[in-house]
Amino acid sequence: MKFFIDTANLEQIKEAQDLGVLDGVTTNPSLMAKEGIKGEENIKKHYQTICEIVEGDVSAEVISTDYEGMIKEGEELAALHPQITIKIPMIKDGIKAIKYFSEKGYKTNCTLVFSVGQALLAAKAGATYVSPFIGRLDDISTDGIELIAQIVEMYNYYGYGTQVLAASIRHTQHIVKCAEVGADVITAPLNAIMGLLKHPLTDSGLEKFLADYHKLNG
Ligand code: E4P
Repeated sequence: MKFFIDTANLEQIKEAQDLGVLDGVTTNPSLMAKEGIKGEENIKKHYQTICEIVEGDVSAEVISTDYEGMIKEGEELAALHPQITIKIPMIKDGIKAIKYFSEKGYKTNCTLVFSVGQALLAAKAGATYVSPFIGRLDDISTDGIELIAQIVEMYNYYGYGTQVLAASIRHTQHIVKCAEVGADVITAPLNAIMGLLKHPLTDSGLEKFLADYHKLNG
């Protein structure tokens, strides 16, 4: 399972990269705004900086909602760096744009996916990644992990090449559950990824090993 970090914060991206297990980055307009990145040129520069920090795919989202606008914007984003994946919303023109980009050999991430039917359309259009939003489904009392499991099963049944990128992850247990149901990729905030390190028995066990060593060796 690939690990992407879901942020536009450069310090957090560097910290995750430094851990040695990072496979990519996802961003969205809200995450860029949270970092105070504004203006077309600054936004593009920020994507380039992220691409220089990590080795894997970096999702950059289009703002346009019409086909022509998405094509123009997506081509400009893709021209910034070979690691850029064009992130496109799950709407009618978005599906048409994903089809266009997949035929041209560009990587795409179909975002804002909340149902198996939407994931089916994204796969048929040739999306590289499909992003079902787990946390936002959980927020409305719907089982986000169950959706991941259903999409994984459907893609396996038909042999679709689209990778299931579990998004809107809120905590460490979401990552573990995604691994259990076979998500290809998770994108998560840094604290959810770092939470995988933690177990109280690891801490107490290490403390005892070191104490025993120091008893004899000073
Ligand atoms: C995914 O690509 C999205 O950027 C992100 O996971 C959305 O997460 P949120 O629901 O926490 O905003």
